[in-house]
Amino acid sequence: MTKTILITAASGQTGTRLIRQLVARGVRPRALVKRAASAERVRSLGAEPVIGNEWDSADLLRAMEGADSVYHIAPSLTLDEPELGRRMVAAASRAGISHFVLHGVIAPYLDNINYHWAKQIVQRELYRSGLPYTVLLPTNFMQNVSWTWPSIARDGRWLLPYDPARRLTWVDLDDVAEAAAIVLTEPGHALGTYELVGTDAYLSRTQIAALMAQALGRPVVAVKESPEAYLAHARGQPFFERFRDEEVAQILAMFDDYDRHGMPAGNARVLSMLLGRPARGWPEFLASLRDAGEAARGVTSYRPRWRLAPRCTRRRAAAPHRGRAAC
Ligand SMILES: NC(=O)c1ccc[n+]([C@@H]2O[C@H](COP(=O)([O-])OP(=O)(O)OC[C@H]3O[C@@H](n4cnc5c(N)ncnc54)[C@H](OP(=O)(O)O)[C@@H]3O)[C@@H](O)[C@H]2O)c1
Repeated sequence: MTKTILITAASGQTGTRLIRQLVARGVRPRALVKRAASAERVRSLGAEPVIGNEWDSADLLRAMEGADSVYHIAPSLTLDEPELGRRMVAAASRAGISHFVLHGVIAPYLDNINYHWAKQIVQRELYRSGLPYTVLLPTNFMQNVSWTWPSIARDGRWLLPYDPARRLTWVDLDDVAEAAAIVLTEPGHALGTYELVGTDAYLSRTQIAALMAQALGRPVVAVKESPEAYLAHARGQPFFERFRDEEVAQILAMFDDYDRHGMPAGNARVLSMLLGRPARGWPEFLASLRDAGEAARGVTSYRPRWRLAPRCTRRRAAAPHRGRAAC
């Protein structure tokens, strides 16, 4: 019998990817969304929408009725995330949910960043609830680069308010969604807490900028800007429109922490073990970002993912059957 899986905050960038992954596995998930327009979006992806407010316990119980599993995503920058988590866990207990999966965050013990520490509190709530649970701890999504990618590609400058030499772990959100679908549909993950980090992805922005340069075929430099300058150009982006200043302040607290420590947390083996293959690293992700950007601009010419040294290009042209070995 197919399981009924409820995804919360299902219309966001994680939820929609998870819907696709589950539908590909033959599961039609239930998707809790706030607005009619979001309901249409998740329906078009193959989910069964339930319109409701995550904060409303009656809406939660209605959404969870008859469901087996819940995948709980707190919407980005939710200020009172522990309270949202408590309501979610309480509703799941009342609804008799048999597997609660929390979309957490790497290093939830960082008490100076609200949305890290909040998830630690929700983890504790789950621990005490008696519900069978799994906690996923994804690190920074590579997709966070997406909204600045057009300006990086245009100006060759990657601006953020932290030291470009600090190293962070990163993960491709598509891999996170695939891992989540595995945990939700395959047995044996109860009481697990899994950090989700990409392969070869513990890099500084300076190192990633070098990979961006290779992908784009033009120089790219990572630059530290002031928090004020960051806010000035972030405010013009669609992602930020819905957030108040105190919500955005959490992002600045995060950048301040990166500036001091980077993000030295998470080992890539966990995600590789779950996926049964290496997780994606930066080169693959940047190639897909570049190709998507070119497709959007109508550029159709083929370009190799990696720019080869001229000597290598000549040798490969002379012996195409040898591939990389020709170099
Ligand atoms: N970004 C990262 O690098 C990173 C890394 C690790 C973990 N995380 C965590 O990932 C989570 C965010 O996931 P995401 O990026 O997928 O979120 P997202 O794209 O911001 O989407 C959040 C969704 O929640 C919906 N929503 C908002 N308020 C709601 C309510 N009251 N009831 C029902 N739905 C509501 C919104 O729906 P509408 O569109 O209809 O308004 C929106 O589609 C956060 O908890 C964050 O801490 C992020």
